[in-house]
Amino acid sequence: MNNSILPSSAAIPVTCLEPGDLGPAAADCVFEALASRPKPVIGVATGSSPSPLYQALAASRRDFSSAAWFALDEYVGLPEGHPESYAEVLRREIIDPLGLDPRTVHLPNPHTGDHQAACARYEQQIVEAGGIDLQILGIGRNGHLAFNEPGGALDSRTRLETLTEDTRTANQRFFDSLEDVPTHCLTQGLGTILDARHLLLIVQGAGKAEALRAALQGPVSPDCPASVLQLHGRVTVLADAAAASLL
Ligand code: GLP
Repeated sequence: MNNSILPSSAAIPVTCLEPGDLGPAAADCVFEALASRPKPVIGVATGSSPSPLYQALAASRRDFSSAAWFALDEYVGLPEGHPESYAEVLRREIIDPLGLDPRTVHLPNPHTGDHQAACARYEQQIVEAGGIDLQILGIGRNGHLAFNEPGGALDSRTRLETLTEDTRTANQRFFDSLEDVPTHCLTQGLGTILDARHLLLIVQGAGKAEALRAALQGPVSPDCPASVLQLHGRVTVLADAAAASLL
């Protein structure tokens, strides 16, 4: 395992790993969180970045039944059961492979007809679970966290967000056409994410190098939502060499 630590002016250490080592290293963070209290709470991300982690968790064949799981975000406008809804993505990525009870996996509900109430309910569910012990994160190439797009408040809460064309284009790979990619979503806010006790950011590929540099070494600014990571007391960043190449 190439375990080099790259210094960052934002005092957030970046562990640079071979691609094959990212999943197991990230899984160790999850195992630590699972052991932290009787009913641990794990925040889960979608997208490609966390896939090696989820594969490592599945391969561990551990018992995850004590945990509750909270998604970062969900699309608005997809019918229930749509294969690219994050509810279905998480069913494929963690519920089925880890043998989870679906009732322990929570997402903001885009089907109630009242997004504001659904978002407030989601925030309450996180509080009632005792907060999130470990929040797994990816980063968008425009520096977004979850679906918090550039320009938003750095202390935002779970809410309806409009997706930028850059994000829609980046996520088009999961849909038949750009027109099929939703324009809105419900997302944990940056303030919600910062409430988690430990943040785990997994970053892969040269396409994320500039976003990672801006997030860790640029100003804390709405121009780069991921820069709020600099405000948190416990951030673990696991990156491959390409993603860490500008640090
Ligand atoms: C989407 C998700 C984010 C994710 C980002 C990057 O916008 N809502 O949670 O971090 O895409 O995805 P990927 O890891 O596939 O690059």
